[in-house]
Amino acid sequence: TDIETLKVNQGRLMETLHKTCSWGTGKRWGSGANDTGMSRLALSDADKEVRDWFVDTASSLGCDVKVDAIGNIFAVRPGRREGPATFAGSHLDTQPSGGRYDGILGVLAGIEMLKVLKDHRVETEFPVGVVNWTNEEGARFPVSMSSSGVWAEEIPLETAYGIREVSGTATMRSELERIGYLGSIPASYKSTPMAAHFELHIEQGPILEAEKQKVGVVHGVQAYRWFTVEVTGRDAHTGSTPLGNRADAILLAARLITHSHRLATKHSALASTGILTLTPGSTNTIPGHVSFTLDVRAPADSTVVAMEADLKRDFAALAAGENIQGLLDGATPSKPLEVSWRTDSISPATLFHPDCITAVRASAEAVTGDRKLVRDMSSGAGHDSVYASRRCPASMIFVPSKNGVSHNPEEYTSPEDCAIGAQVLMQSVLRFDRM
Ligand code: GLV
Ligand code: MN
Ligand code: MN
Ligand code: MN
Repeated sequence: TDIETLKVNQGRLMETLHKTCSWGTGKRWGSGANDTGMSRLALSDADKEVRDWFVDTASSLGCDVKVDAIGNIFAVRPGRREGPATFAGSHLDTQPSGGRYDGILGVLAGIEMLKVLKDHRVETEFPVGVVNWTNEEGARFPVSMSSSGVWAEEIPLETAYGIREVSGTATMRSELERIGYLGSIPASYKSTPMAAHFELHIEQGPILEAEKQKVGVVHGVQAYRWFTVEVTGRDAHTGSTPLGNRADAILLAARLITHSHRLATKHSALASTGILTLTPGSTNTIPGHVSFTLDVRAPADSTVVAMEADLKRDFAALAAGENIQGLLDGATPSKPLEVSWRTDSISPATLFHPDCITAVRASAEAVTGDRKLVRDMSSGAGHDSVYASRRCPASMIFVPSKNGVSHNPEEYTSPEDCAIGAQVLMQSVLRFDRM
């Protein structure tokens, strides 16, 4: 079969995507998201439902489906010859208040590819597969890409099993057991080797839309690290405690967060806080304890490492009451506080494989028919392709995000653009299969 004559079915792709999004809609899960939103946290009941659908659908499309010890699901369609499959992959879990495209599009486009191959009785040279990776988001279990990390043997299985949910006491292991996805095959690239891994994903940024382009050929992913910072002061009465007698954890945390942003600007990096909790949580008690996350990102690993060193040095100084960079100017000195750090997640800077990049570019130019509609880019967000690329050739395909927004119920990519992406994904997989 000529690769370029095979066409994905846009209507079927979108219909199936929206159907699967009935498991974990924002409304149903009470996230406050509107009805385009999704709240399908990893290993939740909704995640189980969509996983069951994935297993049934891929099986009915002629795939052998296996679940590994961390719940990654691999669906493999046999080829003419035996050997590692070329995979399309992404994730079906979402943010607590996310959209219908981040991750989901990549997996559903893989399913659409399987349907096209079946409809046209295409025989590939080697097997072709679709993978759904567990807990890509790291929203419920706060290590992003935890399970492609286990597959790559970059994160120990026991470490992943022990990851506790952000609010609650369940662990990845207890939830895998509860929903029946603690699989029987080892979670490792050695048990499930891949010839290559291609991932279709929404850009999650504004560039393609602004440049009126259709497809991003992704060359790599920036580095990032996640930390949890604990600030410990002393609970005290808001009315009777003079400023100089306070050890106000939220006031210090506010200064630390502001300072992280300054340091990021200095390093041409990014620093963001997404979780902030304080105790005891009472209007008339100065909180003695605050915990907040820091997500630090930059194109180079060395920048992230330098940022980390600067942050640790300056946070300690600010906690001790030193007026570094005038940050405490005008403030009444307080009692010293303590700051401690934990590293939650490390994602190294990643460069994708030239063969996969070539396959994606050739496919994107063929599908759009106009190389001006295709651009080379790098990814600001992390993806399972980061870990996949450590163990097999990999690269990614981006399609435009309306207003550059994601991790938000407003996340949107038009059906036409979703289909272009799915078409490029299918062609890339088939091209690689013949390389
Ligand atoms: C991972 O998905 C990230 O970019 O946070
Ligand atoms: Mn994603
Ligand atoms: Mn995401
Ligand atoms: Mn991501």
